[in-house]
Parts: sequence; C-alpha cells; structure tokens
Amino acid sequence: MPAEDILRLKKEKNAVILAHNYQPGEVQEVADLRGDSLELSRAAAGEEAEVIVFCGVDFMAETAAILSPEKRVIMPEAGAGCPMASMITAQQLREFKAGHPGAAVVCYVNSSAEVKAESDICCTSANGIEVVESLEEETVLFVPDRNLGRYVARFTDKKIITWDGYCYVHDRYTPEDVRRARSLHPEAELLVHPECRPEVIDLADHVYSTSGMARHARKSSAQEFIIGTEVGMNYRLKQENPEKEFYPLSEEAICVDMKKTSLEKVLSSLVTLEPRVVVPEEIANRARGAIERMLAV
Ligand code: 13P
Ligand code: SF4
Repeated sequence: MPAEDILRLKKEKNAVILAHNYQPGEVQEVADLRGDSLELSRAAAGEEAEVIVFCGVDFMAETAAILSPEKRVIMPEAGAGCPMASMITAQQLREFKAGHPGAAVVCYVNSSAEVKAESDICCTSANGIEVVESLEEETVLFVPDRNLGRYVARFTDKKIITWDGYCYVHDRYTPEDVRRARSLHPEAELLVHPECRPEVIDLADHVYSTSGMARHARKSSAQEFIIGTEVGMNYRLKQENPEKEFYPLSEEAICVDMKKTSLEKVLSSLVTLEPRVVVPEEIANRARGAIERMLAV
C-alpha cells in the first residue's frame, strides 16, 4: 500500500511532507501539515527534518528551498507550476520598476524566485494588507495578481499599481455563478478567495486565504457554505466539519497543476529523493530577503 510505505520511508529518511490545501485528498492524508501558502512557508522555515517533500506547485517548493538551503526539498511532481506565476518575468518587473521610480515592489508568493529576487517584500493571500501597510513608500507596485492587488487596495490609502496577472481558476467565477449558487443554497455563507474578481468579492460574505476559510468554517455557527476557491479545499473543510455542508461555487474550479501529485509520485520521490528543487544561490539569496521581510511582518 503506497500510504503505508510512504509513512515508513518518511521516518527512515527523516522527511516531512507538506501539502497545500488544494492537493488531492489522498495526498492530504499522508501529509504532516496541510496549509495555505503562508503556513507552508513558515513551516518550511522552521522545519527540522532533513528532507521536505513539497506537494503543491513549483513556487511553493522554491520558497521552501530558498528558506532552507541546507535541506533537501523534493517535489513529487516537478512539472506542477502556477500559470499566474509565469505571467511576469524578472525582466518585465525590472521594466515595470524603471517606469515607477521610488515605488515599493510587493510580490505575491505565487511568483518565480527570479521575480522575488527583484522585489522588496513578498505577501500571500493571508497577509497582503499587513504587508502593504508595513511599507514606508506611498506607491506600491503589486505583482503579478491584479485581483489580490485590487482587493488589498480596498484597505489602504497607498497607491497600488497592479500587474495584469490573474489565476485562471479564480478569475473565471462570475456574479452569475454567485446568483446560481445562492439560489440553490439560500442559507449558506459565501466564502471567496481574494484571487477572485472584484465583482465576485463584492457579493461574498467573507474573503479569506484557504486556511482562513478552514478557520472560519470551524468557528462559524452557519451549517452550510459556498466555497469560492479551488475544489480541493472542500475535502479538508468536509473532513474537519463532517456535520456541515460545503458546496463549490463552481465545479469547474480545478487547478490542473495542483492535481498532478499522486500517492505513487510521493512514494517514488521518497525512494529516490528526487526530483530535487534547487534555486541558484545568487537568486535565492536575494529572494530570501523579500520572503523573510514578509515573515517578519
Ligand atoms: P492560499 O495561500 O490562500 O492557500 O492560496 C494559494 C493559491 O495558490 C491560491 O490559488
Ligand atoms: Fe496558481 Fe491559481 Fe493554481 Fe493557485 S489555483 S496554484 S494561483 S493557478
């Protein structure tokens, strides 16, 4: 059985398995920690195991490798990427900065290590407002997610200039999806991710990172929830709250790359300790500054 072999090998190799909340249920089951990007970054920074098996997409594993260069970070599915992270390159960011001298650069962790290396500070969906408010500069270049940037802009007086990137999973929700879901489930609370479009956010009851949704669902007195994020999130929500009901805002909200990891791939990566995620030292050293500044906020 792959799950039993994984648990045995994990001990033998002094490995820890970190999994994002969107991972397939079977992968979440063998994880030592599942969480949102911020929790997984914090865990990677404080981790004592020699090997980190990162089940998610490449920018998350890269962040772990940058924060823990002495550890071996492996990614069971090396081909899992985040299309939004590819929507800005380091060269494009340099040109963006050149057009706005004096502005601070905040980059969403859903970005490449090269883009982080060109940024002043990172943020996640859980701390974007605090990160922007922590800056001295009055003008902020926010890359790559236009929707998270516009969401953060609602809570600050700073001038936020966003890059035109987006997540294809969240950007496709429409107000019509909300009307349909609400008419089917009139008693349900609507929780959405800040990667959604402003017109969808306007209709939501609450806006949270994925782990923020998990915390809210546990403490809310509501019994039903419509979940406006990737469908994998519903697995964790239902498992932690079996007596409550969770409906996806859209069944089509699937992040293809998040679904590339399987138990078989986790097992084989533990056997070979490959594929290893390595960020070139010069880039890692510069990117680390932006991530550590975020973790300090
Ligand atoms: P969270 O940090 O909220 O888990 O979001 C990560 C992500 O990729 C959302 O699409
Ligand atoms: Fe990237 Fe969107 Fe997938 Fe998150 S859900 S990893 S932002 S493509």
